Amino acid sequence: MKVALIGLGTVGRGVLEMLAKKDLGLVLTGIADSKSAFLDPAGIDIARVLARKKKEGFCGDQHLTAEDVIKKADYDALIEVTPTNALSGEPAIGYIKAALNRKKHVVTSNKGPIALAAKELRAMARKKGVALRYEATVAGAIPVMHTLDHGLAGNEILALYGVLNGTCNFILTRMAAEGLTYEQALMEAREMGYAEADPTYDVQGIDAAIKLVILANTIWDNGVKLDDVDRTGIDLLTPDALRLADEGGCTIRLIAEANPKKHLLRVSPRILDKNHPLVFEGTLNALTLETDMAKEITLIGRGAGSVETASAIIGDLLWIRDRYVQRA
Ligand code: HSE
Repeated sequence: MKVALIGLGTVGRGVLEMLAKKDLGLVLTGIADSKSAFLDPAGIDIARVLARKKKEGFCGDQHLTAEDVIKKADYDALIEVTPTNALSGEPAIGYIKAALNRKKHVVTSNKGPIALAAKELRAMARKKGVALRYEATVAGAIPVMHTLDHGLAGNEILALYGVLNGTCNFILTRMAAEGLTYEQALMEAREMGYAEADPTYDVQGIDAAIKLVILANTIWDNGVKLDDVDRTGIDLLTPDALRLADEGGCTIRLIAEANPKKHLLRVSPRILDKNHPLVFEGTLNALTLETDMAKEITLIGRGAGSVETASAIIGDLLWIRDRYVQRA
């Protein structure tokens, strides 16, 4: 299957490294970063592109753009991994629409377009007879969407709650374990490539709220928006607050929760017993789904990171290949 990729940040790099390393049968025919693009219908030499990006700061021809790749490259699926814009969703919404219009499948890790326009984009994909997959938008490597689509098919999802932001979990872990200040821990998270391009999205709970909106709309199709989320971040938490929680055998985690019957849609720091099923260290995310048949299911895994997020993207790509492309 031929793929084109736009966005060469942490996630894009992880995808390329895995495409180069693993024999997945995915051929890269177009690539774009924010400054350049490169097209080759015969297949791009990924090692060369990555080396060039590292040395020169761009990956291809500076006269070409992401639009050239989307509109002219020869590919079956577009991998859209540009940075999230939660206010407008652009330019990513435009990128995704342009690819769907060409009847190309789209796999994205971009939360903006899915939180803002999933309904319209999904309808467009359906009309064009292609897939729009966005596993990587929620909880990094954890196969939440695949679990909902397949493993829990037929279940009614009654409620959900979990840790959906790896950066906050990492910061809270580092503050509690090492007594770091919030600023020091955030700097570490940024250096490790976990944080969003604008880390206020992480620490103010916006990123977790966006993921909550994506989950709610995917599960309940209830049209909720970012503004509907009752949101408090971790940016005002002090090491003292964590120490006090620790003295009581507890810790603090940023919890996202949704229960449509109770009109609950909230992201907030919560004091949890250290043995609580949602308390994990580092960038781990955890999500509990309350269902009618399966009862509670808790999924745990890496919620951020380059290769971890690439895992979700590659899972979507191979799902598309098996379902659509190989049968064509
Ligand atoms: N900044 C996000 C997080 C990346 O820390 O969870 C994954 O969405």
